[in-house]
Amino acid sequence: MSEQTPKFKVTIDNITIEVPAGTTILNAAREIGGDVTPPAMCYYSKLEGSGGKCRTCLVEVSKGSEKDPRPMPKLVASCRTTVMDGMEVKNMTSPKVVEARKGVVEMQLLNHPLDCPVCDQAGECHLQDLSYEHGSSTTRTEFERTTFSQEDIGEYIQLHKTRCILCYRCVFAANQLTGKREHGVLMRGDHAEISTFIGKALENEFIGNVIDVCPVGALTDKTFRFKNRVWFTKPVDAHRNCPTCSGKTRLWMRGEEVFRVTARKDKWGEVEEWICNDCRFHKKQASDWVIEGPSKIDRHSVISQNHYQGAVEAQPELVNEIIGKNPKLLFDIHEVSDVNREEIDLSKINGPAHSDNFLANQKAKHERKLKVGRNK
Ligand code: SF4
Ligand code: FES
Repeated sequence: MSEQTPKFKVTIDNITIEVPAGTTILNAAREIGGDVTPPAMCYYSKLEGSGGKCRTCLVEVSKGSEKDPRPMPKLVASCRTTVMDGMEVKNMTSPKVVEARKGVVEMQLLNHPLDCPVCDQAGECHLQDLSYEHGSSTTRTEFERTTFSQEDIGEYIQLHKTRCILCYRCVFAANQLTGKREHGVLMRGDHAEISTFIGKALENEFIGNVIDVCPVGALTDKTFRFKNRVWFTKPVDAHRNCPTCSGKTRLWMRGEEVFRVTARKDKWGEVEEWICNDCRFHKKQASDWVIEGPSKIDRHSVISQNHYQGAVEAQPELVNEIIGKNPKLLFDIHEVSDVNREEIDLSKINGPAHSDNFLANQKAKHERKLKVGRNK
């Protein structure tokens, strides 16, 4: 007869569930879902050994277990602490946790640049969400932020060391997916930095996945940089017959253009299936893919917040009343911007788009007008 894993009862924020022994508090809280779930910046269920680095998942254990009901003296990292039978945990219901989490966010932002307006991760950055939901609105530090010399880590991935929060996810992903460790965290303490060993470029057919696991904008996709804001694109699930990976991906499209290809992520923002570099970086035509339909983006992302249609349809008079005029909430971006229009196929520009692309476009248009004028 096979031995069954015993079940433990655990109460988190006054909700009791039963989970198999050995489950961490974080995963038990994920079973419940919602605000009961502590945020996690370094833990990643698909990466062995992850967790225990960032302290965003701290919780208060107010009762250790049925056998030993003493509370734990300090807040504990929920991603690394397993449940005991009868344990009682406080997450959002603990003022201590709320206060400590503010401190953790402040710590993570000590050296992080506030460059969200130009960061490609904006809109899907876990640190942005974390500071919005758990941080404080001011900073107490006046020190200069740490800076690093720029390092080129290869053709496809852009590294911004200043944005790195040293969560180690990319190091675990590179170790476990590629079987060939090419980068890591060098030095320790406040000298720690993410780097390739002796400037070695990250070359492996699965290395693009480090972009997806990075919770901040420290690792971004060079083929997508500065091409579009993520909330202007529409995510769709698609697949292709790929000899290297499952070929199941998410395309970030605007009209017919495929701006970016990523792995599909679950509701915790974790990759469902790893994808290869070929799918991610080289298949940027809609015709390369079989499109399955719109992706379900259901947690945190600004993309899922960007559907104004319902609100406008439901209460149009109220909107007018509040702002005193008829708002133009829904408009075609192409009416007011040359971006992504006519000659400019942003997704096809090799590298980041900058003013030269638009000047060239203006010039071409001007010349065409002159030509038409001459032919009249
Ligand atoms: S580069 Fe990103 S994934 Fe890697 S350690 Fe830094 S924050 Fe984490
Ligand atoms: S998610 Fe638990 S310490 Fe980072």
